[in-house]
Amino acid sequence: MQTYLVGGAVRDELLGLKVKDRDWVVVGATPEQMLARGFTQVGSDFPVFLHPKTHEEYALARTERKQGHGYHGFSVYSAPDVTLEEDLLRRDLTINAMARSEQGELSDPFDGRKDLEARELRHVSMAFKEDPLRILRTARFAARFQPLGFRVCAETMELMRSMVAEGEVEHLVPERVWQEIQRALHENNPATFFQVLRDCGALAVLIPELSPEAHFSAAIAGLQRVHASNGSTAERFASLLCALDEPAGTARAKALKAPNDCQQLARLTMIFTPAIQQLDPLQPDAGVLLKLLEKADLWRRPERFAQLLNVLACTLEPANRAKLEALQNAAKVASTVDPKILMEQGFLGKELGDAIRTERLARINQALSSLLS
Ligand code: CTP
Repeated sequence: MQTYLVGGAVRDELLGLKVKDRDWVVVGATPEQMLARGFTQVGSDFPVFLHPKTHEEYALARTERKQGHGYHGFSVYSAPDVTLEEDLLRRDLTINAMARSEQGELSDPFDGRKDLEARELRHVSMAFKEDPLRILRTARFAARFQPLGFRVCAETMELMRSMVAEGEVEHLVPERVWQEIQRALHENNPATFFQVLRDCGALAVLIPELSPEAHFSAAIAGLQRVHASNGSTAERFASLLCALDEPAGTARAKALKAPNDCQQLARLTMIFTPAIQQLDPLQPDAGVLLKLLEKADLWRRPERFAQLLNVLACTLEPANRAKLEALQNAAKVASTVDPKILMEQGFLGKELGDAIRTERLARINQALSSLLS
């Protein structure tokens, strides 16, 4: 029985980066032997075990054979006679297909180290096709290592294109796609993720609404600014969809199974973008501003409104800046209306609602006129 450190940990160690998770592969062992050593099995389908103390993952060396489309339809073959090289062969990229023995010796049958040095993301073998999610993973590694100069090599890009053309990406379940998108949004250069997906044709399948050049470049520019502002996942996602029509964009966010906060912020961004563009820069309408604040449910969701303002500041063209400031100002003054005081004055039920609205409108109007004077 031999144990090896594999995958991301070996790659990151060679790149001189901090190693986060350590994955291990065990050659020459049976599940029974692992259980006898105190390991616990994770799930029933895969021969993966957790170390009793470190809780790190130990996988029995395995090979996988594909039977159907997408992620489903794999047959995992794991037995003590599966070699380390066979296990590494089924991995996605050469830089992820290196192993280090407990004695410190590097196993690198597919020249991962050479590709690390050449800054190339290259598939190990045609086994890459076993899992179309690898297209998204490759794009994500391109986004992570872009600052180090990494690129997807021509052969791998070609392979990814052929997988897209064969319809493989359509078979991915939304949960796995969202998981990759969500991670990619926080990589070093998230825009690269979408650029690579666009280059290989996968973006046209996953988010076809971003296909028009104008939508794509607006998405990338906005995303880069939200990234620089250290925005949340919801803000990053919303910036991506900023240029889309609200119904189509909302339907896409839902189809991607983005979490509710991401869907809602994206929807508001798509509603606010044209609304702000249409405002009169010299004389914004107080009633329109108030309606927008109500639509954003500002008083119940102030944090979300702050996120919305950040997305809009990052995605709208500079010509809209003054209008955005007017909206921000309107939010500030309208928030000073205290419903409790109006209740003390005897307003109740529908009348209270009307009084709050009238007072908010008056304060927005006042703020606008003092802004103009
Ligand atoms: N792997 C693969 N194909 C996949 C998922 C994983 O070949 N679809 C292999 C790669 O060898 C990868 C290893 O399993 O290095 C571990 O996967 P994971 O933890 O997801 O990736 P890491 O490379 O460790 O990347 P990260 O730094 O994001 O954890």
